[in-house]
Amino acid sequence: MRLHWPFTLLPLVLPHTFAATADQWRGRSIYQLITDRFALADGANLDACNPADQDYCGGTWNTIRNKLDYIQNAGFTAIWISPVNQNYQGDRTAYGYPYHGYWMADITQLNDRFGTQDDLKALISDLHARDMYLMVDVVVNNVVNPPTCREQMATSTNPDYSSYMFKDSSYYHPYCAIDWGNTTSEQLCWLGDETVTLPDLNTTNPAVVSGYIDWIKNFVQEYDVDGLRIDAAKHVDMQFWPQFCGSAGVFCMGEVYGGVDVEPVAQYQGPQGLDSVLNYPLQAGLLAAFQIPGDLNVTALADVVQQSKQLFTDTTLLGNFLENQDVPRWANLSVDPQTMYNAMTFTFMSDGIPIVYYGQEQSFSGNSDPYNREPLWPSGYAETYAYTLIQKLNAARNFLVSNISEADWLTSETEILTQSPHGIAIMKGPVITILTNIGSPAQNGTNIAVQTPYDSETAFFDVFDCSQWVVGSEGTLDVEYTKGGKAVVLVRSDVLELSDICSDQVGVSIVHAAGTGASSASSGATAGIQRLAWWAALMLPTFWLWS
Ligand SMILES: *[C@@H]1O[C@H](CO)[C@@H](O)[C@H](O)[C@H]1NC(C)=O
Ligand SMILES: *[C@@H]1O[C@H](CO)[C@@H](O)[C@H](O)[C@H]1NC(C)=O
Ligand SMILES: *[C@@H]1O[C@H](CO)[C@@H](O)[C@H](O)[C@H]1NC(C)=O
Ligand SMILES: *[C@@H]1O[C@H](CO)[C@@H](O)[C@H](O)[C@H]1NC(C)=O
Ligand SMILES: *[C@@H]1O[C@H](CO)[C@@H](O)[C@H](O)[C@H]1NC(C)=O
Ligand SMILES: *[C@@H]1O[C@H](CO)[C@@H](O)[C@H](O)[C@H]1NC(C)=O
Repeated sequence: MRLHWPFTLLPLVLPHTFAATADQWRGRSIYQLITDRFALADGANLDACNPADQDYCGGTWNTIRNKLDYIQNAGFTAIWISPVNQNYQGDRTAYGYPYHGYWMADITQLNDRFGTQDDLKALISDLHARDMYLMVDVVVNNVVNPPTCREQMATSTNPDYSSYMFKDSSYYHPYCAIDWGNTTSEQLCWLGDETVTLPDLNTTNPAVVSGYIDWIKNFVQEYDVDGLRIDAAKHVDMQFWPQFCGSAGVFCMGEVYGGVDVEPVAQYQGPQGLDSVLNYPLQAGLLAAFQIPGDLNVTALADVVQQSKQLFTDTTLLGNFLENQDVPRWANLSVDPQTMYNAMTFTFMSDGIPIVYYGQEQSFSGNSDPYNREPLWPSGYAETYAYTLIQKLNAARNFLVSNISEADWLTSETEILTQSPHGIAIMKGPVITILTNIGSPAQNGTNIAVQTPYDSETAFFDVFDCSQWVVGSEGTLDVEYTKGGKAVVLVRSDVLELSDICSDQVGVSIVHAAGTGASSASSGATAGIQRLAWWAALMLPTFWLWS
């Protein structure tokens, strides 16, 4: 028996308004892509892109437009694209060409490698017509060194800035190499290395501040950009951000590179800093808990969750991710695909805005830069198993975001119900998510007994396979892994019945109040009992329903 997933596209969450705020972004789901690597024009050579070459492969803003169905059909409601401004245009450096867009030259110009002003505007208007948002990656901490002659290419520490927006060396910090771990040094010294140096703007200089705040205001208005992803945010003094983002008037999500330690990342979120930051602590916690081979340290993940609640200003605005252009892909670090599905489910069903890096849905497995910037086209944009899981996660989340009034799923805080060495169960509003790190092989003796706050016989449905689960007599849900370690996302059936999700199943067992559902569910179950989803069969002492 095949399941047909009756997902629908997101209804209007909020009508598109110019300049989307943090509140408007909270319910969005983001697909991150590198413009050069996402799609090619029709007829282009599909075999000519080797990430190791660090060269342009041919993607543009126009070619993104041709593949928006692929993104939207997965349920995403926003995209984040790599930087759009003019980059270094000279000869090849030892690190190749800036196909990634992060080597800023003149930020006042668009990067003509990726299209024209009209092309970028057309992409944005296509997105808005689909009710999707655009987040643009911006780089203001630094520029790239303009080579003055071939020998000095990209390596001078006293460059000629005359073709840049800030033309005089007095706008920049003098060259020094970063002493990592020293915050002052990280802010004043230059990113990059002596092969490609990245001169650092002095963002306490009033002329730099006013230049940038005028620029971003005009840029956002000119292109109708909905949000900003801010590169290297922790390399800029904190005081700069409220001025810059206030002038932009849109949601700002900053890159504050970090690990499991929450505090150094959390200090950047709030009125003194940024609306949001990329959730590096969560990514590190998920790796600690799920990566195979790895520590399988669920406590580390639980610690990140608890500390995040204490230290971040608003966990529901964080950018949750497994992969990006700077870190090895999940599949390069963890050999078992079920670990990615479980960890990815956490990024959607806990507090925060889920972000999927292009190629994650294709289980790409490149290591660090440049191997994690693979061209997407060799995948044929196939609707892989991972893609269908993402569809289900987005459909469930989009529904929860837009359609439940009884409990505000979006702003309710993630709570840990149960943790064990094998997994973790979290609750957010009427949703219980149970995840495991055992991987694909079946195991006995690794079951997770989830203590819920619900009365016995409260019914739930798993949005992945539409199996019904009913809370047992002690208020527990008992998950066994005798068929392998799949993720489980349970939405209370009285809530799910308001959606199209699993409607065949939920429809038969409609419950009008939590707690009365189990009896109607179990009485309805007899007809379909022999057609159980394999997963539903594991649920004892729960009941099930298959129609
Ligand atoms: C940190 O870096 C700054 C700037 O380079 C330097 O002045 C300071 O002495 C450094 N602090 C320590 C503790 O090394
Ligand atoms: C940054 O610019 C300000 C104002 O021009 C100046 O006072 C300050 O010394 C500069 N900072 C550095 C580290 O060069
Ligand atoms: C698991 O992570 C926690 C940090 O939250 C750490 O204290 C503990 O030592 C780790 N355990 C193992 C076995 O690595
Ligand atoms: C990890 O990435 C490196 C470099 O791209 C590659 O050689 C290796 O095969 C990858 N490992 C896996 C498991 O894909
Ligand atoms: C789990 O236990 C059942 C019943 O004892 C047995 O049939 C099955 O082979 C076991 N599976 C594994 C993976 O050990
Ligand atoms: C949200 O609710 C409306 C009516 O209440 C329904 O038509 C729509 O399909 C629901 N949206 C989703 C995503 O389930």
